[in-house]
Amino acid sequence: MKKHVLMMSGSIACAKATGLISEWVKKGDEVQVIASQAALQFIGEATLEGLSQKPVMTDTFEKGDMMAHIHVSRWADDIILCPATANTINKLAAGIADDVLTTSWVAAHGLGKPMLVIPAMNSMMWKYPATQEAIKKLVAWGIDVMPTAEGDLACGEQGAGRLPEVVDILAYLDSKT
Ligand SMILES: Cc1cc2nc3c(=O)[nH]c(=O)nc-3n(C[C@H](O)[C@H](O)[C@H](O)COP(=O)(O)O)c2cc1C
Repeated sequence: MKKHVLMMSGSIACAKATGLISEWVKKGDEVQVIASQAALQFIGEATLEGLSQKPVMTDTFEKGDMMAHIHVSRWADDIILCPATANTINKLAAGIADDVLTTSWVAAHGLGKPMLVIPAMNSMMWKYPATQEAIKKLVAWGIDVMPTAEGDLACGEQGAGRLPEVVDILAYLDSKT
């Protein structure tokens, strides 16, 4: 039984990524979801709390739980950012910690626990030089980045940047542990 922190940033792939929560909970794992404000535009707290059976972390300054951004990674076995937006990837590479998701990520890195980024975005956003430079930085810092899938994108275009299927993400995670 594992304990996962699932950080969700604001991508149209948020709904697809909820499949991870279902699969983990089904096999007895625990999941703490941290959602950016943009993620909550795509998927509701009711769904995230219902699936994970835990309140979702959405606010750094949550009354009664203000140190959660520190404690959550000490509790976890691994930390997974899925879907990872261009914006959040670039923020993490720049050390920006201006919401509960990015603050919790920055507070987790030095612990040496597995940290995985699973990007999802339009292929031009994926190819944008800043995004590629940010990915290189994260990899150099020991963070694992799962290759994106190629194919139909939600925006109607085709190319790289598609979130891999949940089954492929789970297999990728298994191959790392
Ligand atoms: C319909 C829609 C779909 C979006 N999908 C993505 C996406 O898949 N990947 C991405 O990087 N940004 C996407 N965005 C843009 C992000 O939501 C936006 O950059 C946001 O500020 C990200 O914030 P966050 O990284 O804090 O979650 C989308 C925006 C909209 C309106």
